[in-house]
Amino acid sequence: MYGEKVLSGMRPTGRLHLGHYHGVLRNWVRLQQEYPCLFFVADWHALTTSYDEPASIEANVWEMLIDWLAAGVDPSMATLFIQSRVPEHAELHLLLSMMAPLGWLERVPTYKDQQEKLSHKDLTTYGFLGYPLLQAADILIYRANLVPVGEDQVPHIEFTREIARRFNHLYGREPGFEEKAREAVRKLGSKRAKLYEELRVRFQEHGDAGALEQAHALLEDAQNLSLGDRERLFGYLEGGGKMILVEPGSLLTEASRMPGLDGQKMSKSYNNTINLREEPEVVRKKIRTMQTDPARVRRTDPGDPERCPVWQFHLIYSDDGTRQWVQEGCRSAAIGCLECKQPVVEAVLKEQEPMRERAAPYVEDPGLLRNIVADGCEHAHKLAQETMREVRDAMGLNYS
Ligand code: TRP
Ligand code: SF4
Repeated sequence: MYGEKVLSGMRPTGRLHLGHYHGVLRNWVRLQQEYPCLFFVADWHALTTSYDEPASIEANVWEMLIDWLAAGVDPSMATLFIQSRVPEHAELHLLLSMMAPLGWLERVPTYKDQQEKLSHKDLTTYGFLGYPLLQAADILIYRANLVPVGEDQVPHIEFTREIARRFNHLYGREPGFEEKAREAVRKLGSKRAKLYEELRVRFQEHGDAGALEQAHALLEDAQNLSLGDRERLFGYLEGGGKMILVEPGSLLTEASRMPGLDGQKMSKSYNNTINLREEPEVVRKKIRTMQTDPARVRRTDPGDPERCPVWQFHLIYSDDGTRQWVQEGCRSAAIGCLECKQPVVEAVLKEQEPMRERAAPYVEDPGLLRNIVADGCEHAHKLAQETMREVRDAMGLNYS
């Protein structure tokens, strides 16, 4: 249960576009082959900024899930679920709020940044201030250690690590911890116990990170340990108390280089997107009407690809041969812009074809999607309940 595990969430903001595909979803599709993955729709997060337009959420949730499946996220490999269907996220958020210092929340950079950016909205709300803590709960409740996020979200992961550390510090120090930990070591069996002790000393006295890693692997393999003992042994390694919550690390997603139709970053707010499942006719039209190098007024005027958003698309979609054809043909006016755009049109349509195919069954039969998500929610719910039992216990809420 402390093995490598990936978790990420996305707000239901509407139809996803090729920027999301190249920036985020392709990465998820790769990760699902390497790790157990949990991907969820952060619908409560959407309410932290869109609390005044709840109607937008419902439709967006299902469309976004279809986009994920279209991109190749595979429900037989990854768990797909909806945040609000696992209410334990809210319970953990509440319990963490008891010990989350206000100053830490106020210092999260997105707090002030977003308030300024979305200045038409009143974001001096309790929920908005607390949203990084909700995110921390999302992550910690699954004891996920790998969180793929964009650069803007890295401070949230760092915040989550601090919250986990503070939690373990406050609540992992049960009475008689040392005694219980030593007892748990004995339960490993003499051979493993000896190795564990050696590794623990090597880490604590010499800071040997390899030893820590090896000890973690040893504990992963020790199937007969109870959850409590496992937490003790993880914590004992590093000299603290029980390790009830696991500090996550961020898996930085490289910024998407996907340009929009106007050469700026592709983004809904710039109105320059090609949607993931855009109709082929619309794709053709959008690309054919894209701006090109303004110097090419007439067909016979030479141009400069560096000044043309179409070239940005060639950088993503074309091979060396095609790029050379563009460079030479544009600069010598040997090719026209429509001609130059044709390989891009074809490449985008080719990329989207399997996406449309994968989406089709879910568009036709909404029940199919509901079932996948119901299964995902059930699985997530089980994992969340397990952590919550430990958390309630640690916070003194497990009385009868
Ligand atoms: N806050 C993220 C965003 O706005 C979405 C999110 C919510 C998330 N919970 C998460 C991402 C947990 C990663 C892990 O994009
Ligand atoms: Fe842009 Fe291609 Fe036209 Fe040159 S030929 S301006 S690169 S579209």
